[in-house]
Amino acid sequence: MTELIQQHSPDPAAGEATRWWRDAVIYQVYVRSFADGNGDGIGDLLGVRSRLRYLSGLGVDAIWLTPFYTSPMADFGYDVADYRDVDPIFGSLGDARALIGDAHAHGLRVIVDVVPNHSSDRHEWFRAAVAADPGGPERERYIFRPGRGEAGELPPNDWESVFGGPAWTRLAGGEWYLHLFAPEQPDLNWENPEVRAEFEDILRFWLDLGVDGFRIDVAHGMVKAEGLPDIGHHDQVRLLGSDVLPYFDQDGVHEIHRSWRRLLDSYPGERIGVAEAWAPSAERLARYVRPDELHQAFNFGYVNAEWDAGSFRTVIEESLATTAPVGAPTTWVLSNHDVKRHVTRYGGGDLGVRRARAAALLTLALPGSAYLYQGEELGLPEVLDLPEEFLRDPQRLRGPDSGRDGCRVPIPWGYTEPPFGFSPPGIYQSWLPMPESWGPLSVESQLRDPSSTLNLYHAALRLRREHPGLGDGSLTWLDSPPDTLAFTRGSLVCTVNLGPEAVELPTPGRLLLASAEPATAGDAVLLAPDSAAWWESHGG
Ligand code: GLC
Repeated sequence: MTELIQQHSPDPAAGEATRWWRDAVIYQVYVRSFADGNGDGIGDLLGVRSRLRYLSGLGVDAIWLTPFYTSPMADFGYDVADYRDVDPIFGSLGDARALIGDAHAHGLRVIVDVVPNHSSDRHEWFRAAVAADPGGPERERYIFRPGRGEAGELPPNDWESVFGGPAWTRLAGGEWYLHLFAPEQPDLNWENPEVRAEFEDILRFWLDLGVDGFRIDVAHGMVKAEGLPDIGHHDQVRLLGSDVLPYFDQDGVHEIHRSWRRLLDSYPGERIGVAEAWAPSAERLARYVRPDELHQAFNFGYVNAEWDAGSFRTVIEESLATTAPVGAPTTWVLSNHDVKRHVTRYGGGDLGVRRARAAALLTLALPGSAYLYQGEELGLPEVLDLPEEFLRDPQRLRGPDSGRDGCRVPIPWGYTEPPFGFSPPGIYQSWLPMPESWGPLSVESQLRDPSSTLNLYHAALRLRREHPGLGDGSLTWLDSPPDTLAFTRGSLVCTVNLGPEAVELPTPGRLLLASAEPATAGDAVLLAPDSAAWWESHGG
């Protein structure tokens, strides 16, 4: 099997209105686990550069790089100590510049993460805040409050951290500071104009370096309800994304996104903002993608859909119906660095892989933009049995099964034993160990196997570029038997069988691509269980 190389050349400086983001396929690179260029067992920018040919060959439009900024890594880079520099673990600013340039030369746009809700506790601002007296201007950049109780020994309110435990930590001097995530991630005070100005400057820094957009971490969190009111519920993690909380999805965040949109629009080349926002309803989520706000928001409803035709149809209809009135494209996401990989969510083993292959064809046929998480094109499962001593995700504090290390295991590129070409030859230990059994899942093995999941993604991404029905636009549902979904996109028909039995259908047209080959019987076809197929309709 020859590697597919497709070159397309966005010219970010040209300023053409391509609206590229409306149907872009954006590949999430979790830098720490993608490719290790310098041989320390940890992925880095050099490693990403060395794999750009793979990414452009796969046929994606853009890459999103998770944070590679200076960080003590309490939350693996989502605790930023210097927003304008690269952590030595990942390389240098020169490497970032070179990566952006090389990616553009490979026809790939580059989106970087920005983490505005909180900084690291090692950020110079927070160090200054700790050193300052209560009430000092240095503390005004964060959210400091006196405690409750006679001696201020109780937290200022009942808010809980997303990672578990109270959202407040007390300093030796007596005041408490807010951290919606780990104690090493103090929340910034967005009521302070200095914070707003600083982040506009940070965005400009990276835009000037040539990035094509930002994925905005916790885009719904920067503004907190006036007076920081108690919630009165002591399992707040369960309410995330389903209930109104005084620290998430407050109306005030939209003003920030509007100002960022103005900033993005002041640059040529359609630079975009993508919200990581958890909102209590699809309507509330759509507010982040109004025409004067961000371009996209992750569709977490789709991530959460059960493997069931009704569940998928409902979330697809809801997603399309809520973004349409604001004119925004929908995004489709199956996995990311925060959730269990979908092969495992859908049942694991062969069953999980079959379903994940079907989900890929469903996802890439839907109108809008799609996000792929590194390794999903290889059908990687969650690694559930990582040795205890390697587990370091702060989210584990939430409970025994909540850690995210298992979806962050490095990518197997080739060779026959760990670390499977993740690191240069001669290096044996990756930062998280890779299962011995991953040889057949490696890129090298899968490129040789025409029926591999990697080759299914190659073919689907190529067709998605070529077929006029795919990408941006609308879909029309077709009647189909229970447990199945069928819809058209122009002359393309997508059929999905989410049930455990084969299902007979009148042949929808000429078969273009299938996650599992359907059997033909006269004018009918038998869709295999847990499979999807793309067809060119008769007359199409
Ligand atoms: C986002 C990131 C996650 C991180 C958290 C705190 O949800 O995706 O990885 O832990 O924000 O920054």
